[in-house]
Amino acid sequence: MQNAERLYLDLMKKTISFALWPDPPIPMEALNDDRPPVKRFLVSTVAKVLDKAHLQIVKSQGDTEVQRREGRIWPGYADSMIGLARLDNLQTSIEAVLRDGVEGDFIETGVWRGGACVFMRAVLAAYGVEDRKVFVADSFAGLPRPDTDKYPADKGDSLYARSYLAVSKDRVAENFRKYGLLDDQVVFVEGWFKDSLPTAPIDKLSILRLDGDMYGSTIDALENLYAKLSPGGFCIIDDYALPACKAAVSDFRAKHGIAAEIVDIDWTGSYWRKA
Ligand SMILES: C[S@@+](CC[C@H](N)C(=O)[O-])C[C@H]1O[C@@H](n2cnc3c(N)ncnc32)[C@H](O)[C@@H]1O
Repeated sequence: MQNAERLYLDLMKKTISFALWPDPPIPMEALNDDRPPVKRFLVSTVAKVLDKAHLQIVKSQGDTEVQRREGRIWPGYADSMIGLARLDNLQTSIEAVLRDGVEGDFIETGVWRGGACVFMRAVLAAYGVEDRKVFVADSFAGLPRPDTDKYPADKGDSLYARSYLAVSKDRVAENFRKYGLLDDQVVFVEGWFKDSLPTAPIDKLSILRLDGDMYGSTIDALENLYAKLSPGGFCIIDDYALPACKAAVSDFRAKHGIAAEIVDIDWTGSYWRKA
């Protein structure tokens, strides 16, 4: 790779993860999910009044640079929460499939603001690849309520209540656009994974990146997509540190006799390469 492309991808990773700047304080109402109803009502009422005068009350998050770099927090401004090590892993995985001629498109299941998918598209642009697509799969409305009859491991999961995790398709598309990367190599797959993935227009994959946090979201993606992953393709698990996600991966691998070594990326990301 030429120096200019390498520098472009380096800058993209730092920009997408907001690593070039300290995180500014975030508006008080953005933290409303954590507040009891009366406080929540007061904060949003005051915020609305202040907004009319172009004023905001903000709160410093107090996160350290290391926490942000390692993708250990829910960031205020970054377009991806996965941190630099997992973005590096995404780049080296894509470079490996391009180098080795592994056939197939790329997908992330669970995209939030879309930053990791934007980065996938940027790597294709940097290498001048025009015959691979990036599938962007999400409800674009946050996580589902746990289906504990089907997936008991998700019992007690309350991420569905977090409005912070619900990012609209328009906002994700706008994020691609602002980096100059929204085109017909980007395909949105909207809906709950159990409904959207079985009929998604996907033929072959070379990068399967799972970031849906829950047992159900992880197993739904694996059951519907792993068979489409080409030999030599990468199965990347963002949430391996979460017990429910890890259990889904273990159950799926046991059921399908997958023995490929699982490699740690950082404190939570892991991957294996399909034999
Ligand atoms: C932790 S965020 C993903 C972070 C993202 N990969 C990044 O680069 O910052 C989890 C995302 O998964 C989505 N999600 C989780 N389970 C889902 C499901 N079963 N169906 C559709 N979307 C789901 C949520 O809407 C949310 O956008």
